[in-house]
Amino acid sequence: MKSLDLQKTIQGIPKAELHLHLEGSFEPELMFEMAKRNNIALDYDSIDSLKKAYQFNNLQEFLDIYYTGAQVLIHEQDFYDLTWAYLTKVHSQNVVHVEVFFDPQTHTDRGIEFDVIIKGIYKALEKGKVELNISYKLIMSYLRHLSEAAAFETLESSIPFKELIDGVGLDSSEKGNPPSKFVKVFEASANHGYKLVAHAGEEGPADYIWEALDLLKVIRIDHGNRCLDDEALVQRLVEKKIPLTLCPLSNLELKVIQKMEDHPLVEMLSKGILATIHSDDPAYFGGYMNENYYETAKALNLNKEQLMQLAINAFEASWLSSEVKEKHISAVKNYFNSLS
Ligand code: ADE
Ligand code: ZN
Repeated sequence: MKSLDLQKTIQGIPKAELHLHLEGSFEPELMFEMAKRNNIALDYDSIDSLKKAYQFNNLQEFLDIYYTGAQVLIHEQDFYDLTWAYLTKVHSQNVVHVEVFFDPQTHTDRGIEFDVIIKGIYKALEKGKVELNISYKLIMSYLRHLSEAAAFETLESSIPFKELIDGVGLDSSEKGNPPSKFVKVFEASANHGYKLVAHAGEEGPADYIWEALDLLKVIRIDHGNRCLDDEALVQRLVEKKIPLTLCPLSNLELKVIQKMEDHPLVEMLSKGILATIHSDDPAYFGGYMNENYYETAKALNLNKEQLMQLAINAFEASWLSSEVKEKHISAVKNYFNSLS
């Protein structure tokens, strides 16, 4: 496909985004505006110098900058504006369903109340549902570099708002912080009715994916790149239809892969894994959903069938009801059938 045709094709696909950190959608322009209105001094004197700092050799180098940027978020309005900016952006890319993460501890550890964070996010998500027709699920992520006791405190804080939260996740520095560290808090989260996901096998080994499945009992793995190191694990993912939410531009920017041509997506699809494409932290990694689809499709020479499969997989992997999933999947199929 010619690159213009490819861009147009991707733009038209009805898409679901299942791996997105709201704090990672914080565009430098909005960060500067918010820093000004909140009287916070940033370490960078211009938007350009901030953008120049977005060069990472690994996950930790990114996380250090990402947590610093998040310190600008203070008021309910800030969380609202952040979420709304993300929704309007992905609306322009024909994203019709989102399942987004937020990291409460990044904010509560700075003295921001849990209710301030969640109310801002929730109000924007609701507005997006009504005005942009984007359905949503909200996932609260525990920071794995902190203790399990700290995650328990976050779980407690979330309980008054549990009707607004669909699931819990596990993110931040993976190496040295295995899923096994969080067994009890995941069990308690499930008992409160939360669905469970975890980042695993991004930088960490395939063993962490096993732990996320067997010890935490997650129903979806975020990233999961390293599963290909272990054939028995691949079989398990295929048999149980455990989705992997892949983020190609993130993988490239964090040096999980050296070049896009090395991305394991096609190998995963060919093995029957329910792989999906998402953006992770689009403000930091150079692209939202369309750009992730485009760069991957270009580098891996994806054909229309593969693009359609990826779009279908994302709805399949979502937490929508079977009826709504079917509706979206039909729309994807109709769209591809309508292409000449
Ligand atoms: N938090 C935000 N983005 C992340 C990623 N790619 N891995 C782990 N934690 C994250
Ligand atoms: Zn992530």
